This record gives sequence, structure tokens and C-alpha cells, in this order.
Amino acid sequence: MSSLANPYEKFAYAYDRIMYNVDYPRWEAYINDLFLRDNHCPKKMLDLACGTGQLTMLLAKRGYEMWGVDRAEGMLKIARQKSEQSNLEIEFRQGDMRDFDLPQKFDTIVCTYDSINYMVNEQEFEVACRNVSNHLGMSGFFIFDVTTERNIVKHFHSQTFAENDQDYSYIWQNIYTYADKLCRTSLTFFIREGDLFRRFEEMHIQRIFEVNTIKKMLNKTGYELVSVYDMYTFSKPNRNTDRINFTARKVREL
Ligand SMILES: C[S@@+](CC[C@H](N)C(=O)[O-])C[C@H]1O[C@@H](n2cnc3c(N)ncnc32)[C@H](O)[C@@H]1O
Repeated sequence: MSSLANPYEKFAYAYDRIMYNVDYPRWEAYINDLFLRDNHCPKKMLDLACGTGQLTMLLAKRGYEMWGVDRAEGMLKIARQKSEQSNLEIEFRQGDMRDFDLPQKFDTIVCTYDSINYMVNEQEFEVACRNVSNHLGMSGFFIFDVTTERNIVKHFHSQTFAENDQDYSYIWQNIYTYADKLCRTSLTFFIREGDLFRRFEEMHIQRIFEVNTIKKMLNKTGYELVSVYDMYTFSKPNRNTDRINFTARKVREL
């Protein structure tokens, strides 16, 4: 028997261990470098699709007033536990980037690590951009990254990853289709419960967006493009780019 779980609800169990090689301090430093380059001095920030709060906590330690929103309660539960253990005051809320509704406006909203790729078509992407804009003050920054088709085709398409640990195992299979630009990831987890392991399935779907589509959408939803960089650099994306970072400034109320 296997249970179908919503994306990241069970993945949350081992997310931080599976992502052990993600350099969050580097990511946090990069975001601060972007602020310096663009003379942006935020105080209040939202980490949208914050996951288990790895980046949110680093930003809070830097001194920003942090909020975190994610769709998966399983991820938020871990984020809350970790931030409490670190005595950090972070407001974590459950929400979907297409329709979250907070009683707050922010100076900056970040959405990192391919989370925007969970918008599976242009319409969803547009709705998310509008909703982010509704939560930004005028001149607020929206910083996000997208994974590229090259990254998916080279490192994920038709590939299976697996790991077998003491308390969990997983099998991670990916298929990308050029026609609809969708990467379908099927994740099977076996998580230890007492002497037995329970099996869970998750299906993740991510969409590849072209830079020009994103530029067009940002323009349509009231932003001015500040920069488009090959991730962690201040250079234009090139044909070897695996992830692209966008910085946009809100210039118009919708
Ligand atoms: C790859 S993880 C990245 C998490 C975190 N930003 C990090 O860097 O570790 C993608 C996250 O996006 C969240 N997510 C996916 N679709 C979402 C949506 N529509 N609204 C809000 N969060 C979403 C997932 O729950 C997951 O936590």
C-alpha cells in the first residue's frame, strides 16, 4: 500500500538532509550583494515558498524582519521548529503563491530555488506576479530564480536518483517533455515507523520559462526589470546557465 501525498508534505521529512549540499549562506550573501548593487535597503522581507526556512533563518540572522510563506504544512512545521530552537522571531504562514493573503506589505519578496517553476503555465506565473505585487510597497523588490531547460535536460531528464538511509529511502524519477516544457518528477519515499517503513508517493510538476516570457510577464504586472543574471554572478545568462536570477522592482500599482 502506498499513500499519495501533496508535494513536499512527506519530502519535508528528509528535505534538509537531501539538500545538504545547497549552499544557503552563499545564496543569502548573493541576495545581499544584489541589494548593495541596486541601492536597495529593505527592512521587512517575505521568503515566498520558504520551505524548511533555511534561507529565511539566515536572512533573519542578518537582521531583516522575516516572514515565510509556503504551500506545504510539512515544510513549515520544520521551519517553525528550527526557528524556535534558534530563538528567531519569524512569522511562518501557510499559503499558495497564487493567492496568499497577508495583512502586510514588504520591502522585498524573495522566491528561491526553482520555486517559481512550480507555476505550470504563463497564466499561473502571471497570477503569482500579481499577488506578489499586491504584497510589495512601491519600489519593492521581487527576487526570484528559475531553473533552465539545460539544467533539467542535462541533470534530470530520464534520470533516477535514490538514497537508502537508516530511517528513510527514496526513489526520484524525472521526465521532461519539450512540447509542454514540463518536468514531471515522481518521488517515492519509504519512511520508518517503528519496525516498518511506510510508503508515500509525491508527484511534482515544474515548468520551464524562457527569459523573454518572464520579462514580458513582469512588465505586464507592474514591474521594471532590474537585472537578469546567471545565478550567483553579475553576468548575463549564457548557454551553460543552470539557474537564472531575476530582480524586479515594483513601479506600478495594478
Ligand atoms: C525546492 S523547494 C525550495 C524551498 C526553499 N525556498 C529553499 O530554498 O530551500 C520548493 C518549495 O516551493 C513550495 N511551493 C511549491 N509550489 C508552491 C505554491 N504554489 N505556493 C507556495 N509554495 C509553493 C514547496 O512547498 C517547496 O517548499
